[in-house]
Amino acid sequence: MKAAVHERFGPPGVVGVVEVPVPVPGVNDVLIKVLATTVTSAECNMRQGKPVWGRVILGFRRPRKRLRTLGLEVAGVVEAVGAGVQRFAPGDEVFGFTGFAVGGHAEYLRMPATGSLAPKPVGLSFEQAAAAVDGATTALFFLRDKVGVRPGQRVLINGASGSIGTYAVQLAKHLGAEVVGVCGPNNVELVKSLGADEVIDYTERDFTADHGRYDVIFDAVAKSSFPKSRRALRPGGKYVPTTGFDNNFWALWTMVRGGPKVVIGMSVNKNGTLPVIKDLLESGTLRVVIDRTYPLDQIADAYRHVDTGHKRGNVVITVGSPA
Ligand SMILES: NC(=O)c1ccc[n+]([C@@H]2O[C@H](COP(=O)([O-])OP(=O)(O)OC[C@H]3O[C@@H](n4cnc5c(N)ncnc54)[C@H](OP(=O)(O)O)[C@@H]3O)[C@@H](O)[C@H]2O)c1
Repeated sequence: MKAAVHERFGPPGVVGVVEVPVPVPGVNDVLIKVLATTVTSAECNMRQGKPVWGRVILGFRRPRKRLRTLGLEVAGVVEAVGAGVQRFAPGDEVFGFTGFAVGGHAEYLRMPATGSLAPKPVGLSFEQAAAAVDGATTALFFLRDKVGVRPGQRVLINGASGSIGTYAVQLAKHLGAEVVGVCGPNNVELVKSLGADEVIDYTERDFTADHGRYDVIFDAVAKSSFPKSRRALRPGGKYVPTTGFDNNFWALWTMVRGGPKVVIGMSVNKNGTLPVIKDLLESGTLRVVIDRTYPLDQIADAYRHVDTGHKRGNVVITVGSPA
């Protein structure tokens, strides 16, 4: 089968599409014929061996062998299942998240049947389904599960035009919040069309100057910081970054002190959130934003685009077609 492989850390050109053996599912595994996957900014970091402390997991000098094919989000068809698998059967259309195991940038993917996998939303293409995994479930995890956004709260989404951000705007509206989105000038109309009540173009206005205005600042792209954002929070407000090592410190610091809190977390097991996202997509409550689509052979070009830091929503890789 074809798989995108990087033997060393570096720029997009380190990724090449090569022939590798099709994985054999174990007793409790499913083998998925991947029809669509994505390139996310997280994978751009992994490909470069960043952040440096992440090399404990990624590999110190070279990517660890089992992490040389990236790919976090997939949609496809179950090809085979192990003898112990009841949850899925060959022919099932699924979408899911590989997490730390990665491996989705390939024609076939082996996953534990208990992994983050759910029936594909009815009425969506495989491309749309693959693009509705990590961004959507991460936004739901933070907004609903970590901070419990309530009707009437004012929620600011920084990075509202990215993968997490486009879903966060829609989900915060769905949870009843008044939503302010922050993005660059080219994406203002997109973010408005997703339902934001107000959109701030970060090249014209700095949201951190809006003192005491927000109950939640969801920094989907971690382009701001708690010290900069704290004055923009209302009393009891929460700054919620998706990434950034220093935020571990601020989360601990604010836990023991009064005032606004920093809430951190990692959305890894998505078995609880994928079915909710499926329902919201099927009912039309959520829509998927796809920026560009590339075939697997051109995955290095997809990486080049995502590396710019300015993709709109999601960048999809088409891998094959249904049998
Ligand atoms: N904690 C977790 O569980 C978890 C899960 C998944 C991902 N993550 C992390 O979340 C982060 C964001 O992921 P993502 O996929 O949503 O990012 P993304 O899609 O790559 O974000 C791209 C967007 O960021 C916007 N942007 C760039 N500079 C900005 C700025 N200065 N201010 C505001 N917006 C700006 C761009 O808008 P313009 O083009 O308009 O500038 C673009 O639309 C990644 O670091 C990822 O590792 C964490």
